[in-house]
Amino acid sequence: MKAEIRRHFAPALIAWQRQHGRHGLPWQGTRDPYRVWLSEIMLQQTQVSTVLDYYPRFLARFPDVQTLAAAQPDEVMALWSGLGYYSRARNLHRCAQQVVAVHGGEFPRDAQTLETLPGIGASTAAAIAAFCHGERVSILDGNVRRVLARLLAFGGDQALPKVHREMWDMAQALLPESPAHEDMAAYTQGLMDLGATVCVRGQPRCVACPMQSVCEAHCTGRTTDFPVKTKRVARRFERWWLWWAERESPRGEREVWLVRRPERGIWAGLYCLPVFDSEEALLATANTEPGTLEFFPAMPHALTHRELLLHAVRQVLPAWDEAALPAGQWVAISAMGGLGLPAPVRQLLQPQAPLFAGQ
Ligand code: ADE
Repeated sequence: MKAEIRRHFAPALIAWQRQHGRHGLPWQGTRDPYRVWLSEIMLQQTQVSTVLDYYPRFLARFPDVQTLAAAQPDEVMALWSGLGYYSRARNLHRCAQQVVAVHGGEFPRDAQTLETLPGIGASTAAAIAAFCHGERVSILDGNVRRVLARLLAFGGDQALPKVHREMWDMAQALLPESPAHEDMAAYTQGLMDLGATVCVRGQPRCVACPMQSVCEAHCTGRTTDFPVKTKRVARRFERWWLWWAERESPRGEREVWLVRRPERGIWAGLYCLPVFDSEEALLATANTEPGTLEFFPAMPHALTHRELLLHAVRQVLPAWDEAALPAGQWVAISAMGGLGLPAPVRQLLQPQAPLFAGQ
């Protein structure tokens, strides 16, 4: 790595963040590890604008790690409902329980120990330690990889584990020399902000970049050549058939038969309509009384590794043979706000409801 880049990078990034970076986000005004940790987990794979909505609501219900650790899993899932990547919510809960049980209710202070907790990877651990305690460690998420690959015109294939290790070394080498706490926080936030607002995927906004004069990719006109990644994740296309079995309860409420998704895989642990992989399979289980089936327009739903097309089939009957239904339970539509449901299923069953629970 050129000495000029090393000398320029950290001071320029810190100064740029103070002037042009993002400020005033609700998780920036605190050094409370619980709040910082929660925001970092929510911000993994989720846009800031979405998190701005969920974060205060979650904190209002679970203001500290003890409250969260003591919560019912269903309530945690319900407040997460709509944020996606539900393994994050399960790990969040398990992490809170470990912090209470193993660490006396205090988050460990250093990145290395933080990384032993459920759901906290190396980059998240570094973000928490840097923001809360000014530890001199670097984050390295997908955005930062892109920034560094361009800065150094680094052509290593990001799909290779060996290249990941090399990127960590580069990230560590670029850290400020002996930063004060505030510098480490500005530096870490600056890395995030640069990747999110300037050194974006596709065409970066080099005119607004504090690294323009030293960036190897920019200086050689090759910004779109980096980062290099050979392996593309292909999304598998699948049709899912959702059986919406409904009845009017003895108390006159609309109720739907919900099953619990398996603990592993898509929508793990959430409540859901029974899923079938073909129309035939659904019709083989559904009630065959003529004229009772209502077919909904197919709904596309993209997940990380799957492109789903959801076909809902509704049946409202006054009486059901429960022995014929897959293992599950009747749930009043009005009570679904308190349960973790996949966002498209909630949208289907409660079209009036906002995409979060409890309102
Ligand atoms: N993405 C991950 N962490 C973030 C943070 N602290 N601020 C903005 N975006 C982020």
